[in-house]
Amino acid sequence: MSSTSTQSATGRVLVVGATRGLGLAIVEEYADRGAHVVATERRDEPSALRELAVRRPEEVEVEHLDITEPEQVRGLRGRLEDGSFDVLFVVAGISLAPQDAIGADVDTADFASMMETNVLGVMRTVEGLQDLVTPTGTIAVMSSGQGSICDNTTGGFEVYRATKSALNQMMRSYAARHAQDPRTLLLMAPGWVRTALGGPNARLEVSESIPPLVATVEAQRGTLGLQFLDRDGRTVAW
Ligand SMILES: NC(=O)c1ccc[n+]([C@@H]2O[C@H](COP(=O)([O-])OP(=O)(O)OC[C@H]3O[C@@H](n4cnc5c(N)ncnc54)[C@H](OP(=O)(O)O)[C@@H]3O)[C@@H](O)[C@H]2O)c1
Repeated sequence: MSSTSTQSATGRVLVVGATRGLGLAIVEEYADRGAHVVATERRDEPSALRELAVRRPEEVEVEHLDITEPEQVRGLRGRLEDGSFDVLFVVAGISLAPQDAIGADVDTADFASMMETNVLGVMRTVEGLQDLVTPTGTIAVMSSGQGSICDNTTGGFEVYRATKSALNQMMRSYAARHAQDPRTLLLMAPGWVRTALGGPNARLEVSESIPPLVATVEAQRGTLGLQFLDRDGRTVAW
């Protein structure tokens, strides 16, 4: 078992996919709010997350998880204590095709990898780690505004969009199966953000997206039913 006994006023948070980009910023934001954060990496190599954990050892600890490896999900579950987290936030995701690639032209292996990571891997992580969350806690998943079928009037990022729509659908099924579960369920849309995945032309800095997004997740504590929300707490059309 890792050092899961640490407590803080604003609780304990598990962030999956946190070596860089939005996941790393979520870890920092929760640490700044006084939470103790367990954050996962998939590779055994130096990262900004490891540097953060060295700088702030009381608030941030690093765990290992590749969400495409089911035995690693089971392994992490076994190393952590049931009901010991107030928030599980699954952030990991990939985009392998260029913005203007036609969906049907995308390489089959890239299509499969995007679906495996963004849909199957995320949902196996939610299913496998749900018991780590307190009965009144929050399970948040990083979706995207691109996952909205209603709002897709421009195309672009066709397969990535499809993975997020499929993820949303899988979370709807999860929520339907857990209708009596008092935990808060959130699909979050952070906006188009300048990260490795978002690219240099994205509209927002990480610092413009994540503080309000975390504030929205926290503001929803105790809310029943699955919601698809943007960083400012506005409902996104399915
Ligand atoms: N940036 C945007 O504009 C934007 C907009 C909407 C939604 N999102 C979503 O936000 C999430 C984070 O995106 P980002 O922009 O921060 O991307 P990023 O900078 O590319 O970071 C992606 C993170 O996911 C991790 N990851 C990828 N595959 C994984 C796996 N199989 N197991 C565990 N971790 C894995 C990466 O770990 P490694 O360092 O090991 O690769 C990295 O920490 C994604 O779900 C993305 O779809 C992003």
